[in-house]
Amino acid sequence: MEDTVVTLEIEGPVATIRLNRPEVMNAFNFDMLRSLSRHLDTLRFDPAIRVVIITGAGKAFSAGADLKERAGMTPEQVRAFIFQIRRLMDDVEQFNKPIIAAVNGVALGGGTELALAADIRIAAESATMGLTETRLAIIPGAGGTQRLPRLVGKGIAKEMIFTGRRIDAQEAMRIGLVNQVHPPEALMGACQRLAEEICASGPIAVEQAKYAINRGLETDLNTGLAIESNAYWICIPTEDRLEGLTAFREKRKPIYKGK
Ligand code: COA
Repeated sequence: MEDTVVTLEIEGPVATIRLNRPEVMNAFNFDMLRSLSRHLDTLRFDPAIRVVIITGAGKAFSAGADLKERAGMTPEQVRAFIFQIRRLMDDVEQFNKPIIAAVNGVALGGGTELALAADIRIAAESATMGLTETRLAIIPGAGGTQRLPRLVGKGIAKEMIFTGRRIDAQEAMRIGLVNQVHPPEALMGACQRLAEEICASGPIAVEQAKYAINRGLETDLNTGLAIESNAYWICIPTEDRLEGLTAFREKRKPIYKGK
């Protein structure tokens, strides 16, 4: 079956996943959840892919849950949707390669939650972000109540979530919600450059560093340091580690194979 609600473009080691329901600001329906999930499954064990960029088609990143679909759902269907979108965000966060969210426009509710689950967020100047759910008398259900305070701190997260306020890209940058802001036409170039910079590092090292940061931050320091040690041990027997040392000695760029 051809996927059109989420598309996949591959250029060398960088895959770009594009949410593609521009007529509804890339709002998430069940179809889009399944499609994004399928693309991640395809990319996860493809050794040629080193970095994934997620962005939106048209002028929005994603306006969150599809509120038109939601209006016709039974409470059980709403529960099933929340279960699936939460599982998808967990998949994004735990993906074995770095994921960059290229926030090209509006990212509200689930849109901001998807960006939060990514490793690095880069925004266009035209982006608007926010966890607006309380305005609809619900709460962020795809990890927003947990990931936003971990990124920007409890006080700012509470202010944003209690008010449902929408913030612009500069404000998102100021509070640490995004790493960089660029003019819209320069956004994908900036993400591509960052992806290429990451691709110059050893893929197993990057995977293990991501694992150690994500898992280690959720525990006490001693356990975190033990996680780091274990992640380091995985890098020691790799061919790439020896290649890094050889390339240094030979004064050339290393060629890493993810082995
Ligand atoms: N679900 C379903 N459809 C959505 C949507 C959503 N979350 N967000 C936008 N759309 C649809 C609009 O209904 C409209 O379709 P229509 O022309 O058939 O009515 C289309 O996308 C364009 O949206 P529009 O509101 O006309 O564009 P805008 O530029 O004026 O505003 C938003 C864009 C995203 C700021 C505004 O649509 C909005 O606030 N959406 C709700 C976002 C939200 O609260 N998300 C959290 C959900 S938990």
